[in-house]
Amino acid sequence: MYHVLPIRNFSIYLGAIVVLSSIVAWSALSQGVLTLCFLKENSMAGPIPRLSPGDPNSYSRPDLVKVTKIDLDLDVDFDRHILFGTASLDIQRINSTADSLVLDAKDLTIKQVKDEVGSILAHTLDVPLGSFGSKLTIALKITSATVVIEYETSPNATGLQWLNPQQTSGKTHPFLFSQCEAIHCRSVLPCQDTPAVKAPYTATVRVPKEIVVLMSAQRKNVSETEGVYKFEQSVPIPAYLIAIVAGKLDSRVIGDRSRVWAEPDVVEKAAYEFAETDDFLKAAESLAGPYVWGNYDILVLPPSFPFGGMENPCLTFATPTLLAGDRSLTFVIAHEIAHSWTGNLVTNANFEHFWLNEGFTVFLERKINGRLYGEQSRQFAAIGGWNDLEEVVNTLGADNEFTKLNPDLTGSDPDDAFSSIPYEKGSVFLWYLSDIVGNEDFEEWLKTYIKHFQYQSIQTEDFKTHLLNYFKDHRMADKLDQVEWDTWLHGKGLPPYKPSYDYTLAEACTALKNRWVDWIKDGMPQPAPFSPLDIRKFSSMQVVEFLVQIFAENIPEEAIKQMEKAYALNDNHNSEIRLRWMRLCIQGRWKEQVSPALDYATSQGRMKFVRPIFRDLYGWEEMRQKAIDAYYAHKDQWMYMTAYAVAKDLHLEEKKD
Ligand SMILES: *[C@@H]1O[C@H](CO)[C@@H](O)[C@H](O)[C@H]1NC(C)=O
Ligand SMILES: *[C@@H]1O[C@H](CO)[C@@H](O)[C@H](O)[C@H]1NC(C)=O
Ligand SMILES: *[C@@H]1O[C@H](CO)[C@@H](O)[C@H](O)[C@H]1NC(C)=O
Ligand SMILES: [Zn+2]
Repeated sequence: MYHVLPIRNFSIYLGAIVVLSSIVAWSALSQGVLTLCFLKENSMAGPIPRLSPGDPNSYSRPDLVKVTKIDLDLDVDFDRHILFGTASLDIQRINSTADSLVLDAKDLTIKQVKDEVGSILAHTLDVPLGSFGSKLTIALKITSATVVIEYETSPNATGLQWLNPQQTSGKTHPFLFSQCEAIHCRSVLPCQDTPAVKAPYTATVRVPKEIVVLMSAQRKNVSETEGVYKFEQSVPIPAYLIAIVAGKLDSRVIGDRSRVWAEPDVVEKAAYEFAETDDFLKAAESLAGPYVWGNYDILVLPPSFPFGGMENPCLTFATPTLLAGDRSLTFVIAHEIAHSWTGNLVTNANFEHFWLNEGFTVFLERKINGRLYGEQSRQFAAIGGWNDLEEVVNTLGADNEFTKLNPDLTGSDPDDAFSSIPYEKGSVFLWYLSDIVGNEDFEEWLKTYIKHFQYQSIQTEDFKTHLLNYFKDHRMADKLDQVEWDTWLHGKGLPPYKPSYDYTLAEACTALKNRWVDWIKDGMPQPAPFSPLDIRKFSSMQVVEFLVQIFAENIPEEAIKQMEKAYALNDNHNSEIRLRWMRLCIQGRWKEQVSPALDYATSQGRMKFVRPIFRDLYGWEEMRQKAIDAYYAHKDQWMYMTAYAVAKDLHLEEKKD
């Protein structure tokens, strides 16, 4: 049942409807003991406050008691769409007066909690607040060093996606994958779901025969016939980097420390596409220091994966929309590799500092690009990034809180704040700093920064202090005097500085765009002077740049049809080109293109591609209902994040019954 209403701020609305009376539930334990399990009263009617001193989006209190190691023992139940088993958490008392462990839990059924000697520990699960889930408080005994939580996930877990065989490429086996960033790990296991806490983990996972399990960790001795898989991640990581996938998977070796994993009918194509992985790794190491994670594997997921890639340690999760057949979209892999340092080693302490993960990673990704393909290629990629930045500031509005590098996320789901801002504004900031201190010194500083903060979680202030001290020590403090810190970190809209990019690789795109604009101004005389030769020498990303530039000119439908005649863009299945082409067609109100645009947007779940199409169609009144119908027809095939985001783009809100 759908309940549709226009919304302003989804999460605040959800906060306001959580008004429950106090419930006391008795749960019978296997030993025949009864424990009391409270659902505490919560009649929050206003906006949601900061949930804890260290993290607006996590209830956990690592300042009192901190989780130092996680050990999972789980069964994957494909029939019920749940994970069930235990999460054992080693703990350390930070404040000696603390007598309880506070965790995040979302849609979890907590069956019982014990300590390492089997004594039952009382627990309280508060009523959930919006997308943040519940506060889970476990009363500790003085001697407790480990809490063992028996639990199961909900089929609705926002961090898990369960696919039936029909939704996979092979169509024979079911499939499960997770996406925990930003705050969905709490729907997979009870945990301190704040990136301020880092812990190593181990896992034992049982699955039906023929299903392969992988996690963001080293694979241990596998006994495949038994369907039991074991993992160990010995590097401390934040909860959002815990990841699991289970399905019919095969692999190919693509480098000394790399394999690519995918469904069997996709794996060869993936191995070809990602053959440059080892070159990326070596370039990244030369920029950032040694790779500490052992192996670097890539997993290609079914099309509903919501992101381009996710930097799960040891095992990057990647969308199949990268499989262009010509290695033209592998910059996403360079990005995920860069996260092995910026994000996974040096981690944002909460998602208000997300730019420390993403801005740095985009900056490094493009440095890798420059090392491998030359400085002009790096500059060209950065021009594309600036385009995205202008677009997102336009879409959000220059007065939007989420256009700040360092936004206030009190009461806001980080999924709502998610945009290109931390990525592109963040990387422009680093580009600017590099411009003023000089490229070589900046690269040296970057290495020092990573080494200094590795294995830690930090805030923007830590970065700033380190940078200022470093350049003071190197007698270059004066160069940083000109930085308008407040404008960069807390200002809204576009940044105060646009780098003077080298436009060499964009020039051919601009020249072709100008030819089209002139021809349109002349009244589109026939025969049109365009042919496939115009773009024959273009790289895929140059075609993208051309389409972005022509989009800014708002050209008429007739000209777009002529462009299709000349360049056959409908036949081009490169996902980045297709996005810009479909948007151009929608902008020109070319009706016949709406169905193919919706097919493109619903045949996969990558938000970067899905959302703009739905937003554009929402803005075309005649097609709005068609877009809404397509949303309802496909939302169950998308992962939670995509469905949630598109509902917002279409100004729909679905009320859970
Ligand atoms: C320990 O926690 C108590 C209660 O929350 C608090 O009053 C006290 O200041 C904390 N002590 C330290 C050293 O942080
Ligand atoms: C691996 O598993 C096999 C059988 O399951 C066992 O005999 C062997 O000792 C294990 N090896 C290691 C290194 O754990
Ligand atoms: C999952 O969500 C559906 C509808 O949104 C609801 O009917 C169902 O009770 C939920 N299930 C659980 C286990 O939370
Ligand atoms: Zn990233």
